[in-house]
Amino acid sequence: MSQHSCMSQDNEQAKSAEERAWELVSQMSLAEKIGQMTQVNGGSHELHQAIREGLVGSVLNEVNVEEVNELQRVAMLESRLGIPLLIGRDVIHGFKTIFPIPLGQAASWDIDAVERGAAIAAAEAASSGINWTFAPMIDITRDPRWGRIAESLGEDPYLCGVLGAAMVRGFQGDRLSNRESIAACAKHFAGYGAVEGGLDYNTANIPENELRNVYLRPFKDALDAGVATFMSSFSDLNGVPAAGNGFLFKEVLREEWDFNGFVVSDWDAIRELTVHGFTANDRDAVREAVNAGIDMEMASGLYREYLPELIAQDYVDEQQIDNMVCHILKLKFQLGLFDNPYTDPGRFPRCVNEEHLQAARAAAMRSCVLLKNDQATLPLSKEQLDSVAVIGPLADDGYEQLGTWVFDGESHHSHTCLQAIHELVGEDLEVRWARGMETSRCRNHDGFHEAVQIAEESDVVLMFMGEESILSGEAHCRAEIDLPGNQEQLIDAIAATGTPVVLVIMAGRPLTLQNVADKVSALLYAWHPGTMGGPAIADLLFGIESPSGKLPVTFPRLVGQIPIYYSRKNTGRPASHDSITHIDDIDGKAAQTSLGMSAFHLDAGFTPLFPFGYGLSYARFEYRDIETSATHIALGDNIDITATLHNTGDCTAEEIVQLYVRDLVGDVTRPVKELKGFRRIRLKPGESKRVSFNLHTDELAFYNRKMSLVTEPGLFHAWIGGSSETELGTEFEIVASPQVAD
Ligand code: NOJ
Repeated sequence: MSQHSCMSQDNEQAKSAEERAWELVSQMSLAEKIGQMTQVNGGSHELHQAIREGLVGSVLNEVNVEEVNELQRVAMLESRLGIPLLIGRDVIHGFKTIFPIPLGQAASWDIDAVERGAAIAAAEAASSGINWTFAPMIDITRDPRWGRIAESLGEDPYLCGVLGAAMVRGFQGDRLSNRESIAACAKHFAGYGAVEGGLDYNTANIPENELRNVYLRPFKDALDAGVATFMSSFSDLNGVPAAGNGFLFKEVLREEWDFNGFVVSDWDAIRELTVHGFTANDRDAVREAVNAGIDMEMASGLYREYLPELIAQDYVDEQQIDNMVCHILKLKFQLGLFDNPYTDPGRFPRCVNEEHLQAARAAAMRSCVLLKNDQATLPLSKEQLDSVAVIGPLADDGYEQLGTWVFDGESHHSHTCLQAIHELVGEDLEVRWARGMETSRCRNHDGFHEAVQIAEESDVVLMFMGEESILSGEAHCRAEIDLPGNQEQLIDAIAATGTPVVLVIMAGRPLTLQNVADKVSALLYAWHPGTMGGPAIADLLFGIESPSGKLPVTFPRLVGQIPIYYSRKNTGRPASHDSITHIDDIDGKAAQTSLGMSAFHLDAGFTPLFPFGYGLSYARFEYRDIETSATHIALGDNIDITATLHNTGDCTAEEIVQLYVRDLVGDVTRPVKELKGFRRIRLKPGESKRVSFNLHTDELAFYNRKMSLVTEPGLFHAWIGGSSETELGTEFEIVASPQVAD
């Protein structure tokens, strides 16, 4: 079915859902309306009675299917109007079958795999009666200290938007009423990823222009993909906390974007408006939130407590309440809940079945990024080795490899790296194993001796280091983002044996690896890879497949470089390799000077450790012959930008070909590079392929000083390559009048 016919069917369905919702609203008492706007946490004693009285529209965190069915029964048969419940849950990167953390999935740059992962998560969650997930999280963040970077899709609005839309399609399927579809929620609107200092819940100050060009963009993509709901952010945006921010929800989301789903607050976020210092008390907080456009309140019960009097005193208009209730009821109709709100798990595919596991394995394999591979240390050859030492606290820990936001995944389903290596090598190799450290944060040396000993006895060492899952995610931010505990010391001790070291990192964020990258022969970044992380990583280490992931986020050398991201502005004094001075090279008593100086740190230079888009392969990919289909194009036209990709290596592999563009002059300054397209291409040894990207001039539009979305005529540079540092470039010009185009 084409996307278009699919959307028009949904529109038809939405229209009748809306009519049915209005009919129902007209029969509701005020208390019942406010009930629909109230979401409560599952498990309380009073819940059944509240549902019976029509005081609850949605329940979150109830995953026992018998209990969910019972709640639905009470709602349908024992409440006056028989309105079913939305059952919400954080299904973030899998339900029972856990996929890589979202940041890892983003490293796959694989639209189909990301969509499939969300579809599997939806089917498994739906088998427990869940009909609404609080995902995807599409906050742009450029700060790896922020623990929630793990849940994000990285630093780039284009990549995040494309993959976020894929998740929406995966969760929602082609119809919300399908048995295996659940409603998605684009969160957190907006600006949460820009919290100061990478500190969770902190303030974000983002100029409107930057907000629109960077932070709001993925949300617009999710909306265009048909996302059913939005969630407001906890954070304060430019002085107005999101849960009370009418600019975000009324002006942008409803008026400009014409969103016709509903908005839920974050947990207790309306009560927190007062803690922010935005309102004086709970009552005012409710008034601000409703008037800002937050349709449903999560967890605190404040709407029930204060809306009746606010409406009676005309602080809130009942017509507005009717609209909000209609938004909520419409989704219940679209999901088909009025026809059948009950779940029969027997009618769903079994959770954690073989097909789901294989999809999770493929996703994990594609999400790993090879950052270093000196002298082709990888792939390992079973034939050429006699023994391997497996060392590290994350080599055989089925729980930690699952990552953050895993409420329902179970570690006994996990296949660890140690297990997978044993399975893969069988009797061909001797596998020696030492944990080395009890946990990633361990600060003693108790396990070092044994680890060093097996490293000395083996041909190669595979170290599995990084962060436990609890070190990232909500409320788990770090001010230092190096390897925690004594890990660097353990790596030093193992490297000192002289046995080649392959370092596999599992982590919820980019870590600063400057101190260890030089000490190891190969470095594979596996994020938290999920249930099937072990077999996926083992396949890569032994060359069953080549690594193909690319970084969705820049890796700083040092924390002090943050924020560091590829699509920065040029500044008036951009740094270059020959314009920088190192702190150790400054003469004693040197006179103050800024002449000829540029934007760099004396102790870190200006480049990251690994740039956005970077990732190696066992194949060798070369790019050449970039060209455009025209030197000049008119506004409203398209241009093709094409280059040749050549596999000059000796294995078949996939490469993610990336297109970047720079608009040289803008009404507001434009980034030095912006991702505008990418494609996964599989090539055999010796094979080459012309790879073409078609760009419409609308795709080069940005918000100018007047907050208008414009494409400006002028000169553009374009590059194609295997990372954001590609230098294979060309240029073209956009002209205002069609007559001048060639
Ligand atoms: C708080 C988090 O910020 C949000 O992302 C999540 O969906 C809700 N709690 C519900 O658990």
